[in-house]
Amino acid sequence: MSTAMLCGFGNHHATEAVPGALPVGRNSPQQVPYGLYAEQLSATAFTAPRAQNHRSWLYRMRPSAEHRPYAPYAGNPLLATDQAHSLAPSPNRLRWNPLTLPTDPVDFMDGLTAYAANGDSAAGTGCTIYLYAANRSMERRAFFSADGEMLIVPQQGRLRITTEMGVLEVPPLHLALIPRGVRFSVSLPDGEARGYVCENHGALFRLPDLGPIGSNGLANPRDFEAPAASYQDIEEPHQLVQKFGGSLWASTIAHSPFDVVAWHGNVAPYRYDLRHFNAINTVSFDHPDPSIFTVLTSPSDTPGTANIDFVIFPPRWMVAEDTFRPPWFHRNVMSEFMGLIEGTYDAKAGGFAPGGASLHNCMSAHGPDVASHAAATSATLAPHKIEDTMAFMFESRYLIAPTRWAMETPLLQDDYDACWQEFAKARLPTGEDAA
Ligand SMILES: [Fe+2]
Repeated sequence: MSTAMLCGFGNHHATEAVPGALPVGRNSPQQVPYGLYAEQLSATAFTAPRAQNHRSWLYRMRPSAEHRPYAPYAGNPLLATDQAHSLAPSPNRLRWNPLTLPTDPVDFMDGLTAYAANGDSAAGTGCTIYLYAANRSMERRAFFSADGEMLIVPQQGRLRITTEMGVLEVPPLHLALIPRGVRFSVSLPDGEARGYVCENHGALFRLPDLGPIGSNGLANPRDFEAPAASYQDIEEPHQLVQKFGGSLWASTIAHSPFDVVAWHGNVAPYRYDLRHFNAINTVSFDHPDPSIFTVLTSPSDTPGTANIDFVIFPPRWMVAEDTFRPPWFHRNVMSEFMGLIEGTYDAKAGGFAPGGASLHNCMSAHGPDVASHAAATSATLAPHKIEDTMAFMFESRYLIAPTRWAMETPLLQDDYDACWQEFAKARLPTGEDAA
């Protein structure tokens, strides 16, 4: 299979794995070259404004409509997120130890575990957040979500993601995005893999506006890579599993679902190397809001108030004068689910490990732990570089409700609050001071 890459965020690409397969000047000609079937995949409503309108045309060996009825799939109850599995949101600060890698054979799809969700997938709001831990490749089966696009953030082990539209090689320190409805299968070149997934039920992820920053900075469009068309011609049964309305359904088709020979349009899976992020920060004083680290945003219907932001905390220089440099103490109207890909996070001296997670909901007070605060307030403020770290945040305007599994797993730390206890009391002037 080809692993050639097409560059540019949201671009209209055109790609064919067989010369002459892509119709020219027509999207759905009466006779498609080689007898291929033309199929439109819409990620937005037909009538979405042109700047937000996303659709692609796929030219495939058989129409994707050729399948038998779906039946409930019970292979991974922790992937299903219908409301029976969710609890009310908690105002408590929550943190989890890293998700345990499996010892029995588990592939990416069955290794997905829902930690939290918000909004309503049926209404097109919010997201569902998963971690995955897997140790075998998906064989003769594919998955897709009808509930949203899937933002995948590997933490350990490379993913080789075969999609209808081509193949993505996705090592840690990259993200991958699989559009809603696009079928994909994951193989694991390193044997084991772990990471995070945000299934976005709302508006498509897009690059944030840059405002006074100008025309460059943060994640640059050219660094997003879509796969060139490639296809499988395999006449063997494949299981097809979809997530629909929070529950799982399976069907079988008689051939590989990855039979798209050519495609064009601006709906495509893509990957992005997080190390290409151009961090913008202060060179004078104070600590700007973490929104300066937004990679992708899914807007809501309230301007500037995201359905979900994907924010990273990458290696960067810290140079500010007279400034408390780690994240300040804060209470935020937005709710924050964090993960750590590698290294340490500068607000926590311990307890937040790669592959772990934390959840700070709306107005829950949080910030640096005692040790990080003490170190930062006594540090010599010479420029220094934070290196070998990559934390991230899924931030949402909606309360994030943990799943029952996430509240009952022994991975949930029962002593997280301890990191904010026993701060020294502030010393106000006393009468003795005045004398
Ligand atoms: Fe926060």
